[in-house]
Amino acid sequence: MNEIELGSTDPVGARDGKDLVSGVPVLPLPAHTPRRADIDPVAAKRAERQVALMFASSIALLIAFTVAYIKVPNTSLVSIPVIGTVGTNHVLLGLTLGLALFLIGTGAIHWAKKLMPDVEVTQERHSLSSSAAERAEVVEIFNRGAAESGFGEHKLIRRTLLGALALLPIPLVVLLRDLGPMPNTRLRNTIWKKDVHLVTDATYQKIKASDIPIGGLINAVPENLLEIEESEGNLNQRGKASIILVRMDPAEILGQQGENWDYEGILAFSKICTHVGCPISLYQQRTHHLLCPCHQSTFDLANKGNVIFGPAARRMPQLAITVDAEGYLVARGDFKEPVGPSFWERG
Ligand code: FES
Repeated sequence: MNEIELGSTDPVGARDGKDLVSGVPVLPLPAHTPRRADIDPVAAKRAERQVALMFASSIALLIAFTVAYIKVPNTSLVSIPVIGTVGTNHVLLGLTLGLALFLIGTGAIHWAKKLMPDVEVTQERHSLSSSAAERAEVVEIFNRGAAESGFGEHKLIRRTLLGALALLPIPLVVLLRDLGPMPNTRLRNTIWKKDVHLVTDATYQKIKASDIPIGGLINAVPENLLEIEESEGNLNQRGKASIILVRMDPAEILGQQGENWDYEGILAFSKICTHVGCPISLYQQRTHHLLCPCHQSTFDLANKGNVIFGPAARRMPQLAITVDAEGYLVARGDFKEPVGPSFWERG
């Protein structure tokens, strides 16, 4: 790299008013004007303080980020126009970290523009253009390829191909719709409702409480699942509504997520791991532990479905159940907490 003499009027790539490669005359650059901070020590000091202020503000914001992370509870909500109701800590974390990064960036730019050496340089390079022979060869290869492909001859193919390529960006734009709306309701609710029968997930037969022995485990779904899938094509309802039923001696139940949510020792839990959503049914009858095969999270079904090992951060949601007049198991309502892995705004 060669430094251009201060005061030179040649643009980059030129010398003595001529292009370095072609020798063609080029328009001159305006004369170099020193910046205020280059000639005025007071202005330079002021710029230095401005840069330092931005970096110091960034430090304060990073401390505020840490405090917000520790102090603001997940349950605190704030209402923001257009966006809706969101967690206060998410807003604070986003604002503080975003502003801190912004100030580091603007501070660095301000520093470079006002205080770093203001010297114009040029890097001389060899000519980037190919030789005339190489260009002619490329043109010849291209023309031969075009002729051999028949692109010019087959108008129908050419036009339909161009039409397809022109429409190709449309799916990408349509996919933007998936960015909203906020998924609160869809992720929070399942199709379980009061008095919906529990049926086996293989034969869709109703399950009688008396048919489940102590130590038994059954995979179950709501009786209306197939009907909903057929009428609404809502295939993801199965993942959210799948449950496992286990039966244990009522005396071994240490706690439940609601009062008497079992039926004579039969407990219903979501089948979807609260870590990243693997389906689980590895049940240890003796300990009442439910083990996820994906990352070994372990839940204690005899004690509220609490996590006792592994990366899952939340207990396994329990479904309150009872029986109908004929002794078939029915739900007492939907889950009281979202099933599956954590998601934004789960709270
Ligand atoms: S998905 Fe169950 S432990 Fe990771």
